[in-house]
Amino acid sequence: MQTRVFRLALLLSLIYLVSGSTAEAQSANTQKLYRGHPVRSQLTNPATEKKIDALLAKMTLEEKVGQLVQYSSGAPTGPSAGHTEYQSWVAKGEVGSLFNLDNAHAANEYQHLAVEKSRLHIPLLFGLDVIHGYRTVVPVPLGLASTWDPVVVERAARIAAREASAGGIRWTFSPMVDIARDARWGRMIEGAGEDPYLGSVMARAYVRGYQGKSLSLADSIAACPKHFVGYGAAEGGRDYNTTEISEHTLREVYFPPFYAALDEGSASIMSAFNSLNGVPASANSFTLTQVLRNEWKFQGMVGSDWTSVGELVPHGIANDAAAAARKALTAGVDMDMESNFYHPNVAQLVRSGKIRPEQLNEAVRRVLRVKYALGLFENPYTDEARENRSALPAESLEVARLAAERSLVLLKNDAADGRPVLPLANDVKIVALIGPLADDAGNMLGSWAGRGRAEDVVTLKTSLQQRLGADRLKFANGGEIDAQIEEAVRAAQSADVAILALGENAGEMTAEAASRAHLVLPGRQQELLEKVSATGKPVILLLFSGRPLTLPGAFEHVPAVIAAWFPGVQAGPALARVLFGDAAPSGRLVVSWPRAVGQLPLYYNALPTGRPAGSIDLTRPPKDSLEKFVSRYVDEQNSPQFPFGFGLTYTSVTYSKPDTSTAKLNAKQLNEVMRSSNAASANPTMTASATVTNTGKVSADEVVQLYIGLRGTSIEEPVRKLAGFQRVRLAPGEAKRVEFTLSSETFSIWDIQNELTVEPSAVRLWISPDSSRGEPAELTITE
Ligand code: BGC
Repeated sequence: MQTRVFRLALLLSLIYLVSGSTAEAQSANTQKLYRGHPVRSQLTNPATEKKIDALLAKMTLEEKVGQLVQYSSGAPTGPSAGHTEYQSWVAKGEVGSLFNLDNAHAANEYQHLAVEKSRLHIPLLFGLDVIHGYRTVVPVPLGLASTWDPVVVERAARIAAREASAGGIRWTFSPMVDIARDARWGRMIEGAGEDPYLGSVMARAYVRGYQGKSLSLADSIAACPKHFVGYGAAEGGRDYNTTEISEHTLREVYFPPFYAALDEGSASIMSAFNSLNGVPASANSFTLTQVLRNEWKFQGMVGSDWTSVGELVPHGIANDAAAAARKALTAGVDMDMESNFYHPNVAQLVRSGKIRPEQLNEAVRRVLRVKYALGLFENPYTDEARENRSALPAESLEVARLAAERSLVLLKNDAADGRPVLPLANDVKIVALIGPLADDAGNMLGSWAGRGRAEDVVTLKTSLQQRLGADRLKFANGGEIDAQIEEAVRAAQSADVAILALGENAGEMTAEAASRAHLVLPGRQQELLEKVSATGKPVILLLFSGRPLTLPGAFEHVPAVIAAWFPGVQAGPALARVLFGDAAPSGRLVVSWPRAVGQLPLYYNALPTGRPAGSIDLTRPPKDSLEKFVSRYVDEQNSPQFPFGFGLTYTSVTYSKPDTSTAKLNAKQLNEVMRSSNAASANPTMTASATVTNTGKVSADEVVQLYIGLRGTSIEEPVRKLAGFQRVRLAPGEAKRVEFTLSSETFSIWDIQNELTVEPSAVRLWISPDSSRGEPAELTITE
């Protein structure tokens, strides 16, 4: 028996490996967070630096400034709009980078001008927002992060790099690694959510995928983590708004994913729009010079965000273009995207002594370093034959489907007729598919869809039609007029189950400049949901969105809900496989799902308060002063609708209490180990493990999460914070011992002096299915 179980487990794990994940995904164990070391250097080597010295010696002031100038080709708005001088500027060596070009041929045409016509033959660098795929569009980044699978993210980024580079692009403005704690902020969709640990793991995965084995290979593209820094903390969740973040919180929460991306070798970083503690991020010498250059020793290039240098004027810290250019450049912004402020001003600023020549040289050096690292001097042109003009290849579609499948988070799956609504039985008689997003190819691509094409998308309607045949599928779009809603209700009435595909309009309601004060369904979708639910048929709600939505009644009354984000070109096949149980859902939330907008910002890794609500029943208004004078709402619970890390599947999994290899650690010893180590090495100090058992009847991937909480420290620590995770496949009945290795860094904090240190403290460690559950193991860190 045992051998049979063993063989089955072996077979299943082989299938698992072949199907896309590897041992690496299973042990996205404890990785280094931002822990204050210099990043691993990948960009300098003495031979290249010599070439740069030689080039700098030949360059005129104008040619130097040119390397710092970046324009969007054909920008419909903005300062370069209407300019037709690109060609002559490029031929004079006055442009360093262009972005938003359409194809390899267009890029090559400009490159010929730069390389053949300009005096020093310096190649251009072509950029683009390749955010979740170039043509093979995978789930939006929030969905990708919800896979908790860095291997699939890396594979998707690799495909994006291959396709983008074939289109002439060698630089992507990705990954967006902004921590987002507020679902009102539309750009939550572009990142990995609220957690710095998970955000760091994902940041590394993107960079590995984009930059490949070596930046110099023709199919590698330079990464650009953005937006440095604090952009996601916009007050009120309103895009571009002010941020106030203490240095401690910057170091603990907002810096780590940037550090991770740079440590992984990212060649560039983008400075943000927002003002940070009163100093715009694109003129902030604390973050751009003190942290980035002096502490982290980053050698790559800083590019500004779109006109963020120009915006120093409306921010009120510069009264004209010259002052803005000086402030940005001297704070550490190397390249000016689209402001057209460096181009006409920097040479004069150097001549008049307002910018030191060495400062200019340093900025130019960093840009040239990236161009050398990409091999552009040797191979400036793109082989136009590489560009794919036909259908997407099967291997790419396979990765897109796998990523989409794993991004789906099953939030609810109650019983109807005595069994859970999902998965659907293969012999289900009639399915009603209802809603504006059931057959909307364009929306499945999400925001920032690169060069994605709606015709590459397989919608849910197409997939269900293939699976069920036209007779067993009743489709109704829903829509905005009474007749359409009535038609949808009739479809539900005539079916055995209704699938509702509802959600946001990706183009208008998510991503940049799409903050929302009301996180509800647009148009008459809420009414559609209520009317279809009122038929009494089992309803499955598929929610397509770039953020959690607070839907009145939905989580109480609808039996099954899946957060589907925007799944990309393979939306239909992925959803159909999960709906019918070919694959068990395995996505987990990377943001706390609010019950009400009034709870925002909301995040699990919050600091404790002096008046915790503890065990008080918060479902009702306070009945006495003991219930009132605590940190709570009188009209809403404190807890989220669904916690960070949460997601159901088609089986049940139990966790044992964790065991640790030791009950005592010593702060002095841990500090010694941490300080004597170099950046690259982790310092294993102990292990924590738990037995995780599949007690149900189907196999599933479980995302086993390790959390840590410290008490007694010099500065408050979060109630708990993620410190590791592993995605493990569990066959029915299977029990696995899941072990995490913890290093001294895991226990270190930025203390009250903003020094990185391990302090004597009481430690709790959870190994749990999400951020709200589990019984902790306890240990002590002695002095
Ligand atoms: C966005 C960036 C983007 C840039 C270039 C800006 O508006 O904030 O994320 O990379 O445009 O398209």
